[in-house]
Amino acid sequence: MLTLKPITDLVFQLSGRDLSIYERSFLQRTIGKQMEANDLPDLNTYCEFIKNSPGRMQELADSLNVDYSEFFRNPVTFALLEQVILPDFLNRKLSAKNKNIRIWSAGCAGGQEPYSIAMILGELITKSKTPVTFQIFATDTVEKSLKTAKRGSFSPHSLKNVPLHFLDRYVTLSGGFYSVVPDLKKHIEFSQYDLLDPERKSPPSGIYGDFDMVFCCNVLFYYAPEARKVILEKLVGSLSRRGLLVTGEVEREIIQKTELTLMEYPSSVFRRG
Ligand SMILES: C[S@@+](CC[C@H](N)C(=O)[O-])C[C@H]1O[C@@H](n2cnc3c(N)ncnc32)[C@H](O)[C@@H]1O
Repeated sequence: MLTLKPITDLVFQLSGRDLSIYERSFLQRTIGKQMEANDLPDLNTYCEFIKNSPGRMQELADSLNVDYSEFFRNPVTFALLEQVILPDFLNRKLSAKNKNIRIWSAGCAGGQEPYSIAMILGELITKSKTPVTFQIFATDTVEKSLKTAKRGSFSPHSLKNVPLHFLDRYVTLSGGFYSVVPDLKKHIEFSQYDLLDPERKSPPSGIYGDFDMVFCCNVLFYYAPEARKVILEKLVGSLSRRGLLVTGEVEREIIQKTELTLMEYPSSVFRRG
């Protein structure tokens, strides 16, 4: 097993970046891949390589930020949300004074997650003719991903999981790309926010937190227990009473150790209180 101390110390010395925030085996795998890609036999040679060319450190940092995403990723969770959890949630919202649903998509990558949520909610609200509105605050640290998300233009392949009736209603084809229609885009506000920012408890764009639902899928997974705890405190703290936290299916076990209640097994939707 790779001992990481020489490289974590070096990166901290050179840049102040703390690699210990990452989950250990993920960090080992990522560093191993960098060594292999550059044909370097051991960690000491890799440290020398980084010292001699600081650009390589950025390469390592970039490879530690996984931005892969898909529409309707975590299919079981999305199916249960659409068929069971959200219809019930909308019914309860109907009897509430405030009929606006506030959602935070934390770590939204290129927008696939918030657009998927918007498609489901838009359709459910239209079908049930419920006088409820919704607003999604979608955040990420990476400017480039946010630009892609705001553009809302996707290749046909990237839309392969989107059900046909959503494609008909929510995207238009132009120049070989599918663009999300303005009527869906208007529900989503994209902005930059770091979940590990010690200064802010929730995204400034969301103004006061108090979200009915927070999605943070396939993000916690990459972090070490201490960093997960910091992020989780923010996510849970920004939920309204009986609000829902949705994580990736790979992260279900992490949340099962908190005070939140799992809604429908085998989804990864949890309720506060
Ligand atoms: C693997 S992608 C998952 C995207 C989407 N949530 C999904 O499930 O498909 C992880 C995303 O989280 C973002 N991310 C990672 N650490 C973050 C942090 N500390 N604050 C905000 N976003 C973060 C990454 O930039 C990336 O876009």
